[in-house]
Amino acid sequence: MQQIKRIAIMTSGGDAPGMNAFIRGSVRYGLEKGIEVYGIEEGYKGLINNDIYPMEFDSVCDIIHKGGTMLKTARSKEFMTLEGREKAARNLEALEIDALICCGGNGSYAGLYSFANPEDGVWKGQVIGVPGTIDNDIRGTDFTIGFDTAVNTAVEAIDRLRDTGDAHGRHFIVEVMGRHCGDIALAVGIASGATYVAIPETKTDIDAIVATIKKTGHDIIIIAEGDEVGGANQLAEILKPHLEAITTEENNPEFRVCILGHIQRGGRPSARDRVLAHEMATTAVDAILTGKSLKAVSIKSGQISLDSDLVEKTKQVKIPA
Ligand code: F6P
Repeated sequence: MQQIKRIAIMTSGGDAPGMNAFIRGSVRYGLEKGIEVYGIEEGYKGLINNDIYPMEFDSVCDIIHKGGTMLKTARSKEFMTLEGREKAARNLEALEIDALICCGGNGSYAGLYSFANPEDGVWKGQVIGVPGTIDNDIRGTDFTIGFDTAVNTAVEAIDRLRDTGDAHGRHFIVEVMGRHCGDIALAVGIASGATYVAIPETKTDIDAIVATIKKTGHDIIIIAEGDEVGGANQLAEILKPHLEAITTEENNPEFRVCILGHIQRGGRPSARDRVLAHEMATTAVDAILTGKSLKAVSIKSGQISLDSDLVEKTKQVKIPA
């Protein structure tokens, strides 16, 4: 097994609360294990542009409680080209970096695979993925870093909407993030007492939504941004004629739309996300030190493991009763 002297870490794709805890954990644990740790700024973009610098114990002071990522992040089109990846590989070779750990989502995993796979990869070093995305859409892990915080942020916002909805007797259609996966919407829906949750994985039942609106005065309806009807504005348009049809003098259902958007991505990470990020970071460093590559860290039934591959596949949601 190759003696590891120097590793690099980065965050990539959409930021997720807890990425800073991942950075802190990787740096501090790596240094403790006697290896040098380099940080790459702006993910694959920084890897191509050679924005790579050594990190010390003090580099990661006072970041654990902050949202975003101190290493910044980006989505890089250039890394999808062979030229971009070759440039990135030469940068790591020049710095004699032995291994790369990337915290990101499905696209970031695909980037790692194309970079270092034995068939047509361009870099010979080891690569390990750590799941960091609010969407919780990575197959092979029960949770991703950032999901817990994003759900809590959305629930807090919806509790406020419920107050004003109750005061006015209005329904709210709330759009949460989730392009391909309804995990955020489902968790938020249950925790906020929503009467309907529309997700990409199931067909949205307009009649069922109208039936629930008929029953109560101030429903919360959650829709994931990737639902097949579109987002909250599209659902509102579809619902309009149905609601007009059931309007009477006594029952005049009124609704408002709220798109939570990027608010879900920012803010202080929850304790749960910080612990998960720390444990995943140390597992990733250990994986490198024991010669592993092309693997992803995951958590299954509460156990952190390393048996997932870097495959780009959206996970299948489990729809609660
Ligand atoms: O990180 C995942 C995600 O938050 C998705 O839920 C959302 O569709 C997307 O990122 C938004 O991306 P951007 O920040 O590039 O607009």
